[in-house]
Amino acid sequence: MKEYKLMFAYILLALGLSQNAIAAVDADAGKQRAKMCLNCHGQDGNSTTSHIPSLAGQKPAYIANQLRAFRSGVRKDGMMNNMAKGLSNKEINNLAAFFTSLKNKSVGSEQEELISEGKRLASNLCFGCHGSNAQGMGITPRLAGQQPKYLAKQLRDFKNKTRKNPMMGSIAGGFSDDEIKALAEYMSSLK
Ligand code: HEC
Ligand code: HEC
Repeated sequence: MKEYKLMFAYILLALGLSQNAIAAVDADAGKQRAKMCLNCHGQDGNSTTSHIPSLAGQKPAYIANQLRAFRSGVRKDGMMNNMAKGLSNKEINNLAAFFTSLKNKSVGSEQEELISEGKRLASNLCFGCHGSNAQGMGITPRLAGQQPKYLAKQLRDFKNKTRKNPMMGSIAGGFSDDEIKALAEYMSSLK
């Protein structure tokens, strides 16, 4: 647990820095730049495709971090690596400001058994970092209402270390694939 506390201090630091970095942003310019993105991520930023994440209402510092990670290739996805390749830092910040301004519509879930199992597993393990309703916090993403198949894939990627993050790697590593499915379904059910 000591390790987590240290990491948490690091998040708060990074959070302060990245929020300064996105002080002067232009959400309208972001909207213009986002036209192509909406074909996949949903016309209002809410994805209707199970393997594509919603970006509406996502935290701007988190979005900007991910776009930089796709651009540099640290986070790997053929499609997104291509999409992010040509983006400048300014365009990234504008895109982040645009997507965060859109209203998130939770995809919801009716998988009652998985939801209650996920709730039990998450208990108070996830919300300290992801926000009290999993609505996200700084560089930590919103999970509430996200596409469940997308969330489950990310947790498996963290576990397999194909998506690299020291905190999420050790957390996801503690769950079986069935438990991951339950956690994902529970997070998707939140508003
Ligand atoms: C051809 C479809 C497609 C297009 C076009 C596209 N994306 Fe994506 N995007 C994806 C997929 C699929 C993922 C999930 C990748 C994975 O599984 O890791 C993703 C992931 C992301 C993420 C990470 C979200 C998270 O929760 O971690 C961000 C941010 C993002 N895209 C922004 C954009 C932006 C900005 C554009 C336009 C410049 C764009 N995308 C265009 C398909 C697309
Ligand atoms: C110590 C803080 C911390 C805790 C505790 C934590 N997370 Fe995370 N989580 C993060 C951070 C930071 C990221 C962003 C990683 C990155 O930038 O790639 C993240 C990312 C994620 C993602 C990727 C979302 C996306 O849009 O791609 C999922 C899914 C996730 N966490 C689920 C969970 C679940 C479920 C729990 C509880 C079992 C949990 N997290 C607990 C800090 C935490």
